[in-house]
Amino acid sequence: MPGVEAARVPRHIAIVMDGNGRWARARHRPRSFGHNAGRKAVREVVEACLREGVQVLTLFAFSSENWQRPKDEVGALMGLFLRALDKEVDELHGHGVRLRFIGDLAAFDEALLQRMHSAMAQTVGNDALHMNVAVSYGGRWDIVQASRQAAAAVARGELRVDEIDEARLGQWLSLAELPPPDLFIRTGGERRISNFLLWQVAYAELYFTDTLWPDFDQACLREAIEDYARRERRFGRTSEQIVPVP
Ligand code: FPP
Repeated sequence: MPGVEAARVPRHIAIVMDGNGRWARARHRPRSFGHNAGRKAVREVVEACLREGVQVLTLFAFSSENWQRPKDEVGALMGLFLRALDKEVDELHGHGVRLRFIGDLAAFDEALLQRMHSAMAQTVGNDALHMNVAVSYGGRWDIVQASRQAAAAVARGELRVDEIDEARLGQWLSLAELPPPDLFIRTGGERRISNFLLWQVAYAELYFTDTLWPDFDQACLREAIEDYARRERRFGRTSEQIVPVP
């Protein structure tokens, strides 16, 4: 990326793709029209990440709370995910993208679940970009499911309670094998984390933009990366303790 040294490009970008509904309302169209338009922005961001050498992209596509939306909107989103899986996976695979779905996948119907598993299996050997799509996901859900796994290991006698520390619990959280998000982007004007990757974003740089998700393009991503590259990440230490990036 011109103007940003490779070492300052975030390894992992996490995005809350917000604003589809308002984008559609401004055009007097149903909310599902906005979600459909959001697919183009996903493509833009994936292409830009591949080009810029971002290693991991995690998108919040459907939260644990989104099940409470009107039935027809949930149905439209499920249809959109199915179509996206049918149409986009081969191309993503061709670009070397490894696709992963994180969240409470058991909540989805059989057809969608089967497509998600087959997309993950098809792309498992790729590493040009790790693309994670969070569906039926909540950061609190993630911490609870990791805690349950720790409790089960204790119950089986494989782990002592005093052995549970951040590193051990972290192994059971979604995306444990990937670097944590460096840059957290939320579009659509709200300044909230909204239960996305709560544990994993502990040291992420937060970037909020008023741009609605369907309008978010490669120039918008570049602006976010440039903003990130100007920040000093101290991880609780002082400025003097930070080794400058060469
Ligand atoms: C939030 O906007 C967006 C969603 C709940 C759905 C996100 C889904 C996509 C962008 C579809 C494409 C994704 C993939 C991975 C194929 P909102 O409805 O809350 O908007 P509002 O705040 O303006 O109402």
